[in-house]
Amino acid sequence: MDITPEIKERIDKLAEKYHASGQELLAYLDGLLYADYNTYWDYIHLDTLLSLQTPRTSIPDEEIFIMYHQVTELYFKLSLHEIKQLAALSKEQKPGMDIVKTKLIRINRYFSALTHSFGVMEKGMEREQFLKFRMSLIPASGFQSAQYRMIEIGATDFINLVDKEVREGFRNKEANIEEMYHYVYWKKGATLADSGEKTLTLRQFEKKYSDNLIRLAKEYKESNLWKIYQQLSEEEQNDPKLKGAYRSFDLNVNVNWPLQHYRTAAAYLAQRPNDILSTGGTNWQKYLPPRFQKRIFYPELWSDKEKEEWGKAWVQSVLDEIKQNRS
Ligand code: HEM
Repeated sequence: MDITPEIKERIDKLAEKYHASGQELLAYLDGLLYADYNTYWDYIHLDTLLSLQTPRTSIPDEEIFIMYHQVTELYFKLSLHEIKQLAALSKEQKPGMDIVKTKLIRINRYFSALTHSFGVMEKGMEREQFLKFRMSLIPASGFQSAQYRMIEIGATDFINLVDKEVREGFRNKEANIEEMYHYVYWKKGATLADSGEKTLTLRQFEKKYSDNLIRLAKEYKESNLWKIYQQLSEEEQNDPKLKGAYRSFDLNVNVNWPLQHYRTAAAYLAQRPNDILSTGGTNWQKYLPPRFQKRIFYPELWSDKEKEEWGKAWVQSVLDEIKQNRS
């Protein structure tokens, strides 16, 4: 074989690269000689991926339930991948508007895919099968998804995740993350109102994740997506596409996905005269609807009326429709 000028140039560059770190080019060329070709299945760890579906029962639809949760967690990971990059950028330099827009649009695409595919849950399992296999999952619940909480923490100032009843009390003082974490909205959802006792689902979650989530909230205090928005110039902040991307993100995470999720929960658990208890033990009819939680990442980007009507549109109609069909 001829050693063409192109090949010689590459070899020289490789020699330079390895020499700079005190390595021998020849040894690396040997490595290349013996290395196997890449395959698709090794590259994406296909065998491992397909071995991760391990149902607790032999009821067939449980596998659908597991796989769709796994798919969702991967989309959550994709979203966090973008949020992390923006946060890192904002620590080095101010990220430009275009990169912020690009990344938000990506995350919106992920959440839109999730919202639109939720039918896999809502309509894709036999209710009788679901009501059986769920009993072997107690007290586990999607409520314990830490990535979902990480997305929220990366998205906004922590105060916007504080339970709405006490949120305003934190507004005018130097907010301390630990103190606010004590009142985070999800904690209230999984605490019994009369005794103040936390559900086992919440206690397990806190034991595993609280320290990490508090650390993350501190890390994102100055680099969450809202802080990144505020770093942009006024003209950039008013760019309709950028503003639109932030508003869509707020709606995607706090209304569209939660409504679709709530609709699914109701499809399986709503029943006359008494609704079925959830595996995580929340008062789910009161906890899940976005209009009750009123989680809003970017209150500054919405009018008072829009905030007032947050998530209202189809919640009641969906519940009525489901209960109607079942009665
Ligand atoms: C048939 C399907 C599903 C049903 C019936 C259902 C039901 C519920 C219920 C009742 C809750 C309230 C907590 C509790 O008491 O357990 C909840 C919370 C949650 N679920 Fe699901 N879920 C389903 C599918 C999913 C999927 C596919 C995901 C994706 C990871 C998910 C993620 C979550 C999250 C993140 C929460 C917490 C929401 C919040 O705090 O506002 N769920 N789910």
